[in-house]
Amino acid sequence: MEQFALDALERLTTRPRETYETLAVEPLTPLLGAEISGVDLSRELTPRQEKEVKQAFLAHHVLVFRDQNLTPEDHKRFAELFGPLHPVALPAEGSDPYILEISADKNSREVAGNGWHADGTADPEPSLGSMLHLTRIPETGSGGDTLFANMHLAYDMLSPSMKTFLDGLTAVHDGARPWLAQGQTPPPEYDVPRTEHPVVVRHPDTGRKLLFVNAPYTSHIPQLSGSESAAVLGMLYEHIARTALLHCRVRWQPKTLTFWDNRCVQHHAVWDYYPHTRHGRRVAIDGTRPQA
Ligand code: SIN
Repeated sequence: MEQFALDALERLTTRPRETYETLAVEPLTPLLGAEISGVDLSRELTPRQEKEVKQAFLAHHVLVFRDQNLTPEDHKRFAELFGPLHPVALPAEGSDPYILEISADKNSREVAGNGWHADGTADPEPSLGSMLHLTRIPETGSGGDTLFANMHLAYDMLSPSMKTFLDGLTAVHDGARPWLAQGQTPPPEYDVPRTEHPVVVRHPDTGRKLLFVNAPYTSHIPQLSGSESAAVLGMLYEHIARTALLHCRVRWQPKTLTFWDNRCVQHHAVWDYYPHTRHGRRVAIDGTRPQA
């Protein structure tokens, strides 16, 4: 591995561990994700617990809470600690506009999120993060894991020359692309978002840089020719998908809630359990416009 990539790793693996009084925080890898215990999300958090959950979120980007008996109201109340709820883009008739049912079974032909992506990046203000609470895991007892990838580190591990090149670029994110990729057109009631964001943005809370392009939504880099844009984006997607140390993997149990920072991680829901059933509810939180 090149020295600049080793330096990026060393900066993370040698940082001092945060301290917690009310939570136990067990990292999933030294670079991404943590299991959190010592908190019951069906109850109101104490100010100290809330502060520590927020600290762990900024430090680890993906938090996994086990054995959480949550009603939809508990789920939304916990999410609201981080900001106003982000509405579901196309809510089903009569459903809660803030709860997205994530469901797959023997009748499914596609499942949500089965490929590396961040949520809703064609929006001018993509969500801050999502909380997924699984109520049913596949009958096989395994499968249906979700993978996450650290976009800070994806940026940090690039060469200094590549970082300088990408730093000045923007990319167009087009909400029609995920539909077209499945041979569908967006429904007429969907006001299809399309937004240009910087390719490299800063996390609004920590100021750390990160790579902000993803395969389903990003159509092109307008400062480059079509073939240059496709080559650069293809290189970045391959870097994200193939660099295993960027990733962590969440194995679900019934009643697990996972909260990820949509501003700085991508995720991939692995559909390896067909024809079995997996079900959960996802609540998202409003974000802000990504800034370079
Ligand atoms: C998604 O939000 O993309 C789905 C995540 C999952 O089902 O694990």
